[in-house]
Amino acid sequence: MTLILTAAFAYLLGSIPFGIVMARVFGLGDLRQIGSGNIGATNVLRTGNKLAAFLTLLGDSGKGAAAVLIARALVGESGAGIAALFAMLGHLYPVFLRFKGGKGVATFLGTLLALSFPAGLLACATWLLVALATRFSSLAALTAALLAPIYTAVFYHLHGALLVVVLTALIFFKHRENMARLRAGTETKIGSKTKG
Ligand code: G3P
Repeated sequence: MTLILTAAFAYLLGSIPFGIVMARVFGLGDLRQIGSGNIGATNVLRTGNKLAAFLTLLGDSGKGAAAVLIARALVGESGAGIAALFAMLGHLYPVFLRFKGGKGVATFLGTLLALSFPAGLLACATWLLVALATRFSSLAALTAALLAPIYTAVFYHLHGALLVVVLTALIFFKHRENMARLRAGTETKIGSKTKG
């Protein structure tokens, strides 16, 4: 029963779409009609509003971290794992947006930082390095997600790494269109409002 409540709490927390909220607060319009149509910080940045993008990143990663930390404090380590999975599912399939959510990168990094700080830090560093080198947010996310299970196995434990494999698979599934655009050479770079 406790784990079901933990899952429900994490799912609801993960469902809060900070990108949509920030776009409304800053009067940027409906994010789903802008750029890639995604509700994440990268797409908020395409509006040109860096503060709104930063706050989206903070909110989306913070809700993932908060879900894990609260669950760990109340239920222990098994609760933390459940919370990580359901906070991600909340962001990807939010009840507040008729289950059409984001791609989960910020929430993924937030949950990972809370599950294992060194593994999360390495995943963030991987994202940053690839983003700086290529300026493709999606490629940075896919690389960080691919390496995250290894970081987790080394700095957390094997069960945690298996959970992260599931989260990585979800991220790849949500980046299907990005991967097609990367292959076609039409993916949008960070900060640019047009393709390529
Ligand atoms: O964080 C999401 C990112 O990996 C891709 O976003 O808007 O370029 O599809 P977007």
